[in-house]
Formats: sequence, structure tokens, C-alpha cells
Amino acid sequence: EQISKGKYDHYMQKEIHEQPESLTTTMRGRLIRGGSRKTKTVLLGGLKDHLKTIRRSRRIVFIGCGTSYNAALASRPILEELSGIPVSMEIASDLWDRQGPIYREDTAVFVSQSGETADTLLALDYARENGALCVGITNTVGSSIARKTHCGVHINAGAEIGVASTKAYTSQIVVMVMLALAIGSDTISSQKRREAIIDGLLDLPYKVKEVLKLDDEMKDLAQLLIDEQSLLVFGRGYNYATALEGALKVKEVALMHSEGILAGEMKHGPLALVDENLPIAVIATRDACFSKQQSVIQQLHARKGRLIVMCSKGDAASVSSSGSCRAIEVPQVEDCLQPVINIVPLQLLAYHLTVLRGHNVDQPRNLAKSVTTQ
Ligand code: G6P
Repeated sequence: EQISKGKYDHYMQKEIHEQPESLTTTMRGRLIRGGSRKTKTVLLGGLKDHLKTIRRSRRIVFIGCGTSYNAALASRPILEELSGIPVSMEIASDLWDRQGPIYREDTAVFVSQSGETADTLLALDYARENGALCVGITNTVGSSIARKTHCGVHINAGAEIGVASTKAYTSQIVVMVMLALAIGSDTISSQKRREAIIDGLLDLPYKVKEVLKLDDEMKDLAQLLIDEQSLLVFGRGYNYATALEGALKVKEVALMHSEGILAGEMKHGPLALVDENLPIAVIATRDACFSKQQSVIQQLHARKGRLIVMCSKGDAASVSSSGSCRAIEVPQVEDCLQPVINIVPLQLLAYHLTVLRGHNVDQPRNLAKSVTTQ
């Protein structure tokens, strides 16, 4: 822990606030103008000899635990879209418990901040034995996962000390979006889309700086929620992962029960919990799922739900039209990058809730930064 907290009280707080810089470092040297037509492309040095094999794989399988799994989930839709390859998700321990099928024609992508998580390592040995091409995405050069995979990408987010992962999460998403761009880079039909995403990536640190200005607003919200027992977080599409990750942050540091819920599943159980007391956060930023989220908000309002709605700038009035709610406006970016923006207010909320509730921010009880035993 030689790294100083600088002007911050806690490492988690510092790591949340340094995301504009960590994201810049993650992208440095990797977004370039290349080829005969000088179009913008992605260069991931650690993968260049393996991209052809990855493109030929029958399936891409993401494998990880905790926050790293959530980052992979956030990146799944864009990888499916740009690669055209089916993408499946595996929690490392569950893959091992089931001895789930992994084939020679698979590309298995291992996502781990530390590169040392025991469950992920075990799944890596298993995937190697089954002949899959193994790709590592880690924040730790020389870690076991970095060494044992066939190839990979370092996220270069800088050392993360707070047990609750924050800046590694956003850098992992950015690396996986770049992975999707690299795999899809020879598809002419998606070139415009890819260029728009690259422009969005270059602009992302500035947008993160903007969303960090919500710090006081999130502290205010934390004050309101300080004595609550539980917080539900509803998301879908790109932001299902944001719901899971936001809830995980609240749970692990603020020691408050919280659950991330796929909004499409609301009618199949969670709706029974809705009353005027239970706080519910709904992520409803603009993307292809927006109208569906508007109807979720209406249904929750009709049941007198106590809502906090995260929406795109300028949408506060429209999301409150069917009933009163607290709206949190965030900058809008390309749909696949929106999870990077949307997690920030939830990280801030978890942080402030923890401080206000008097818990240990950087070392929550019973948890470890790197879980090296099974
Ligand atoms: C632990 C940490 C989490 C982390 C998870 C996976 O549970 O407390 O913050 O997300 O392990 O760790 P990894 O290093 O593999 O990303």
C-alpha cells in the first residue's frame, strides 16, 4: 500500500475519481488510424497473432467471478453484434462445478483484475485441457492468469487497492469493447458503427469526468437511504450488468442488501416486493431498450414504488411523468459504452452509503481483494 490516497479519504474514493485517467491509460496506443484508407482501428498487440483463430471460433465463452464477470456481461451484446459469434457467460466456479462443456473450437476469455482468483484459475486449467484457445484480460502483468493463457490484453488501470473493484471494472469493459472492435474489424458492413464507437471511446474519459460531478447528489441520496434494509436495481440490455454491479457494490461495502434485477423478469416475481417503502433504482438511459424501461417505470409507479431513475440528460421530466421519482441525469454515450458511465453514480452511492453507515470502505468485513482459495 505504498500508493498514497492523496487528497482522498479512502482508496475506493480515489479509484472512483481517477477513472478518467485510468480509462485514458487503458486506451493509450490502442486506437489508431491504420490501413490504406486511414480509418480508425483498434490495435491490441497481445492478440494480433490470434485474431484469425478467434474469428474462426464457434463460440466465445467469458469466464470470471464477481465484478469481472459483470464487466464481461456488460460487453457481451457488443461482442455478439460485432463478431457475429455466439457469446456465452460462465461464472468460473459454476463452470467447474458442472464440468460444463468447453470445446477445441471455443475461445475462452478469462477476465480477472488480480489474475490470481482460484476459481478462475481452475476454470482456466480446465479450458486448456479441453483444447480451447484461452485469452486473459487482467490488470496484473505476470499474474498466473496472464501467464497461463495463450494470449491476452492487460487493462493497465493501475494498482487497485480498495477491495471493491471500481476503476478495474470500467477499464475491463473498455478492453472488451476494443476486443469486439478488433474481432469485427474486417466486416465492412459495421465499419460506421465501429468508427462511432471508437470516437465514443476517445471521448469517454471526458464524459466520465462529467458524471463524477454527481458526487454531491449521490451523497445526498445516500443520506436518504442510510437506514434502509434493501435496495433493488433494475436494468436490461447493456445495463443489466450495471444493475448487478451496482447492487454488488452496495452489498459488499455498504453492507446493505441489494439485488440487481433484469427488468424483463420483473413480472415473474420481483413485482411482488414493490410497495411505497422499498427503494428501487431503475436504469433507463436512452438505447434500444428505453421504451421498455419507460413501461417498467409506469408499472412501478402504478404500484406506488419508491423510485430513483437514472436517465439520459434532458429526460428527467419524461421519466417522472407517470409519478414522482428522484431522477439522476447522466451524459449519453454510445449504447455499448453507457455501462461505463452508468456505474459511476452507483459506485459513488455505495461509497457514501458506506461512510455514512460507518463501515470500513476499503476492507469490508469477510471479503478479500483476491480470493486465492476455493
Ligand atoms: C473478490 C473481490 C472482487 C472481485 C472478485 C474477482 O471477490 O473482492 O472485487 O471482483 O474477487 O476478482 P478478480 O481479481 O478475479 O477480478
